[in-house]
Amino acid sequence: MKEKIITLLAKHLKKDSSSIISLLEVPQDPTHGDYAFPCFILAKEMKKNPVQIAQELANSLKLLKEIEKIEAKGPYLNFFINRALLAQQTLKTILKEKEKYGSQKIKGKVVIEFPSPNTNKPLHLGHARNIVLGQAVTNLLNFVGNDVQVANLYNDRGVHICKSMVAYEKFGKGESPEKAKSKTDHFVGDYYVKFTQEAKDNKQFEEEAQECLKKWESGDKKTRELWKKMNSWAFKGFEETYKLFDLKIKHNYYESNIYNKGKEIVFEGVKKGIVKKKEDGAFFIDLTPYDMGEKILLRADGTSIYTTQDIYLALLKYTEFKFDKSLYVSASEQNYHFKALFKILELLGYSWAKNLTHLSYGMVNLESGRMKSREGNVVDSDNLISDMKMMANEEIEKRHKEIPLKEKEHRSHTIVMAALRYYFLKVDRTKDVTFKPEESLKFEGDTGPYLLYTYARAQSILSKAKSAKAKKQALPQLSDKEKQLIIHLTKFPQIVQSAYASYAPNLIANYSYQLAQSFNEFYHSHQVIGSPEEAFRLKLVQASSLVLKNSLSLLGIPVLEKM
Ligand code: ARG
Repeated sequence: MKEKIITLLAKHLKKDSSSIISLLEVPQDPTHGDYAFPCFILAKEMKKNPVQIAQELANSLKLLKEIEKIEAKGPYLNFFINRALLAQQTLKTILKEKEKYGSQKIKGKVVIEFPSPNTNKPLHLGHARNIVLGQAVTNLLNFVGNDVQVANLYNDRGVHICKSMVAYEKFGKGESPEKAKSKTDHFVGDYYVKFTQEAKDNKQFEEEAQECLKKWESGDKKTRELWKKMNSWAFKGFEETYKLFDLKIKHNYYESNIYNKGKEIVFEGVKKGIVKKKEDGAFFIDLTPYDMGEKILLRADGTSIYTTQDIYLALLKYTEFKFDKSLYVSASEQNYHFKALFKILELLGYSWAKNLTHLSYGMVNLESGRMKSREGNVVDSDNLISDMKMMANEEIEKRHKEIPLKEKEHRSHTIVMAALRYYFLKVDRTKDVTFKPEESLKFEGDTGPYLLYTYARAQSILSKAKSAKAKKQALPQLSDKEKQLIIHLTKFPQIVQSAYASYAPNLIANYSYQLAQSFNEFYHSHQVIGSPEEAFRLKLVQASSLVLKNSLSLLGIPVLEKM
């Protein structure tokens, strides 16, 4: 409808549509119509007073079936769209396009990297946020038509993993996850914790970790074997956690394979005069003109650092994918790292450096209480999810006395993951979050379970009405609540576009919540089945549940038919 107005104006004023688009406003006051065109823009070229221009345009523009009324109000030209027609068209479009409603056909190639853990400990709550965000952005990218490749980097070498190794060598003689009946990545993480505890009173531990790293670098057989064994435990455990999140990764990169290869690019930088050598032999790039200081790229002893590996990895991804965009989902702690990395790549002359984006996200905290982990450390994702599952099961058992175990399992897992995803995704990704498991699991309020519940409620109306197959019905007089709901449905494609443009799944989450609220307001004040407007209202219920399902699926939340 906006387009109709634009074309109408463009034709009449003999102007480019593009010049009109940016001028069209949405009035604050709804009595001023749905769109307004400010006529003072035309005053100069028409050499007329804008009030007069508005008046003349109002008289001369022809109404369309999409535009009910055109009114001059001071220097503004106000357009009133045909709400009834809009309602009809929206419902028709949704029911026809179904899960494609709101999608687009942009053709781009995008690489998105997450969760990229270190291999010395299990995935913690920050990784949960990382995965949930990465998946939601992936869904959004796909929905607008991109070819999206999920890539993951394992930081599988370095002093952190050596610490777990040193502690295992000292205290873990003969132990294995199988014998200890421990999840494999937790087993590795326990030795990392052990190392940290022991190193507090014993300086020698740190030295031994450095020693281990040197041996690793020189390819010492025993060290490499232990490293392989412990990493394989970490990987195995990660895979199990990924399953909980339904995360499938197509491309895995390993720091151990690439960390050395960045060096050559650094040396090329030296030839180009961009990278310089310090007195002590270290190589650095001067980022002071960009307020990022001097960035070391190779240490004095020739070893590479975190950035060096990322320089190579960025290039490797470009060679493999010829991406239009390459995204990195990673915590805000690494803002400087990525800013510097992208600048370095630009200075090294890679034209695609401008297409790299850091999808930064805030810290995750926990309220102290039930969820604080046994050792007082950060809580890992596995334990959090299984604790939440217990809570969800209690709730389900209260509501349904006899529910088959398999169904209960399915429901509680879906509810827990919806709670977790929604809690993280409803806030701006850059903000810190305090995760409150109980709150996230509530069936009422701004929560994932509330949205699932709303969907199930809509489904239950539809299933009751199956027999009364929707007849054709002329559009009845719409109530305010119905109008509101339809307008909300109409907005979905725009919301998708904005969420995509700024990688902001929170816009989709907030939209879902408002949609659910608007639907529930309608539901509580209108009879659907058996009312004279039944056919129309069933369509409205069906369209609402389709759009809710679409928006939830963008958040990575599958729906439940019953709850
Ligand atoms: N492994 C790192 C960490 O846990 C994150 C890696 C992010 N990705 C990258 N290409 N640097 O902090």
